[in-house]
Amino acid sequence: MIENADQFAHGALPETTSDEFSRQEFVKSLKLHLANKVSLGNKTAYEVRAKKRFQRAEGKAPQTYHEIRKAMEAEPYFNFWSAMQRNSQEMMWKSCQVPVERQLPEMIEKAKTNGSAKGSLRLNPDLEIPRYHRAVDIHCMPGGYHTEFAADDLANGALYDRAVYIYAMGRMGPYNADIGDTTIAYLKENFPDLAPKRILDMGCSVGHSTVPYVAAYPGAEVHGIDVGAPVLRYAHARAESLGVPVHFSQQNAETTDFEDESFDLIVSHILVHETSHKAIRNIMAEAKRLLKPGGVVIHAETPPYRDLEPYDAFMLDWDTRNNNEPFWGQSHEIKAADMAEETGFEPAKAFEGYQPSAFEVDKAKRAKVFQGGDFGGGGAWWVWGVQK
Ligand SMILES: C[S@@+](CC[C@H](N)C(=O)[O-])C[C@H]1O[C@@H](n2cnc3c(N)ncnc32)[C@H](O)[C@@H]1O
Repeated sequence: MIENADQFAHGALPETTSDEFSRQEFVKSLKLHLANKVSLGNKTAYEVRAKKRFQRAEGKAPQTYHEIRKAMEAEPYFNFWSAMQRNSQEMMWKSCQVPVERQLPEMIEKAKTNGSAKGSLRLNPDLEIPRYHRAVDIHCMPGGYHTEFAADDLANGALYDRAVYIYAMGRMGPYNADIGDTTIAYLKENFPDLAPKRILDMGCSVGHSTVPYVAAYPGAEVHGIDVGAPVLRYAHARAESLGVPVHFSQQNAETTDFEDESFDLIVSHILVHETSHKAIRNIMAEAKRLLKPGGVVIHAETPPYRDLEPYDAFMLDWDTRNNNEPFWGQSHEIKAADMAEETGFEPAKAFEGYQPSAFEVDKAKRAKVFQGGDFGGGGAWWVWGVQK
């Protein structure tokens, strides 16, 4: 069993010098240490000090995760961990930016497939980037998914690919494909008769979760859309280097240019928490337009707060306030049936549930609590959606 399998060195992945690699490994080890050791002390600090302080001041113990946050705001141990967690995030991006900046011109050249592609790439320079991406650098990633620093830029695709591996501390597998593989496993178990001919991955980014659908549903035409040109250029280069045909296009999932009823399966993986309250409803309405009758839309995310102990919800909510994830909190309140009803689907055909993480690491070694952005830390993903 390997806990931290090495990231697969496909042809588009930036190379690292030994110093650059060591720096990245340090950040990964720091993140693991924070998640597996330091983070756990927050619970003790809460039980021993913060809870009692709150009780004395308010005359009752904290009940909701909001109250727990209020109780912990003044807790030095929590503030120390929180500062370390935020610093590890900023160090992670920096450690991954250095090799990308060093090699950018060669990487741009290498990514050009010059007509040899199995899949395709369609960009739209006129696409308006939604405000919810322009207004903030989501999860502190400098420039977000869309900013271009050079002609034909793919820097932030390369940055995201490497950083996700470090962020997840290797727990999403050598291809960072855990969320796609896990969602596929859920679909195979719960919709065994679904044989999609056309599949759309919304918010595909660099295609970590998109690529596995090609092998999972042989013969299906797989599309990935995203608003960011740099991530799509990189996604295309990465998929081609893996020999996997995917059709990438630059589109807003709220209003795509695909025809009505042209897909059997629409998927998204950690897209929802990065879109606004209004955008996710637009995305669901768009999915309804795009799906054939009987087709399925499914989203994979970390679990809703209602299913967690208030303390674990408080920890998982860390990203909302500390990691430039302004929509994180509200996305963890979504109920599939309510969303289906609001967006024109039949609520009775909505579904939601946990799916164990597909990546084969020793799950017993994973931390059992959610700890501020530790994607997959609980060893399971939350999936929700609806059948049309
Ligand atoms: C966390 S990343 C998704 C990662 C990817 N799905 C995976 O599993 O590896 C979220 C992505 O959604 C994209 N995105 C956000 N809002 C979008 C929208 N309205 N339309 C299309 N893509 C969007 C972002 O640009 C970003 O690349």
